[in-house]
Amino acid sequence: MREVRVELGPRSYSALVDKGLLKRLGELVGSWCPDLNPRKVMVVTQPPIEEAGWLAETKGGLEGLKAEIHVARIEDGERAKSLETLQGLCRELAKVGLERTDAVVALGGGVVTDLVGFAASVYLRGIALLNVPTTLLSQVDAALGGKTGVDLPEGKNLVGSFWQPRLVICDTSTLASLPGRELLSGRGELAKYAFLGAGKILQLELEDQVAAALEVKARYVSTDEREDTGARMALNYGHTVGHAVEAASLARSGTHPLSHGESVAIGIVAAARIAERMGRIDSQRVAEHLELISGLGLPTMLPSWADPQELMAYIARDKKNRAGLTFVLDGPGGVEPVFKVDPRLVTDVLEEMKESVS
Ligand code: GLY
Repeated sequence: MREVRVELGPRSYSALVDKGLLKRLGELVGSWCPDLNPRKVMVVTQPPIEEAGWLAETKGGLEGLKAEIHVARIEDGERAKSLETLQGLCRELAKVGLERTDAVVALGGGVVTDLVGFAASVYLRGIALLNVPTTLLSQVDAALGGKTGVDLPEGKNLVGSFWQPRLVICDTSTLASLPGRELLSGRGELAKYAFLGAGKILQLELEDQVAAALEVKARYVSTDEREDTGARMALNYGHTVGHAVEAASLARSGTHPLSHGESVAIGIVAAARIAERMGRIDSQRVAEHLELISGLGLPTMLPSWADPQELMAYIARDKKNRAGLTFVLDGPGGVEPVFKVDPRLVTDVLEEMKESVS
């Protein structure tokens, strides 16, 4: 079993990575959180996780805790990340009578860990959260670091909090049941870590890939938990154009939207091309980006439907912006936030990246 430590003083915690950890949940919580002795535990999950058998395994694994185990289900998909679902979930916690010393378990992908993390941070002004991510995307990103939240019609993750879990348990057996496209999406997120100091990450075996990604993320979270200094923004490598492409793709009805990871992959290539135009990296480094992304079977070009002007409108609303466009870019000192990037330069890169219609 691999262990990654997030150092945050009295709120420090571990992420554990291995196959077969769901079955051992009670024992792991007992060993890593000895001060946590809940009388009641609420496991929150979504239907596909239950159908894959992971809920039953989780409940079995938690038996060792000798607590009353309750289950709450939320609807599938990003729509569950709403204030309405949050209220429904908090009411379920109240009906079951969860107290300050009890715990909630978020069992699922990023939607579940984001929503349940937020509920844990506000219910009774904060109760213990155990994250059990079941997708590659959530294992290498969302479950660690304490960002929680829900969406508003005006945008994603606009309401939320920083609330660190007490333990993160990544059972890589759960990844075996993931549809191929979802695994590919996780690889898009994994790819960013190759440029954040984990150069050989893609050559490792799966458990080591997840642990290596979390090592990098844990370092940024320990240094800049609440994105005060800007250091943590580096974890958004590829996400500025990535989020814009993802949002534009979702807004197009009647087509199969690009996944988060596919969008981030395009965003990583865009970030490299922008950095090259700004003289921060050379063409050899851009080629390294292209090779890595295409080697994973991920897209390196914008789809032919993409409209650079529409993407620029999304980019202009990016949460990282500070009196101008902010991008996370590679450079001589590594990947870092760069402020006041010229919008014309970004538009040119987006134009250049449009796939031609054949
Ligand atoms: N997903 C980026 C972060 O947690 O900061």
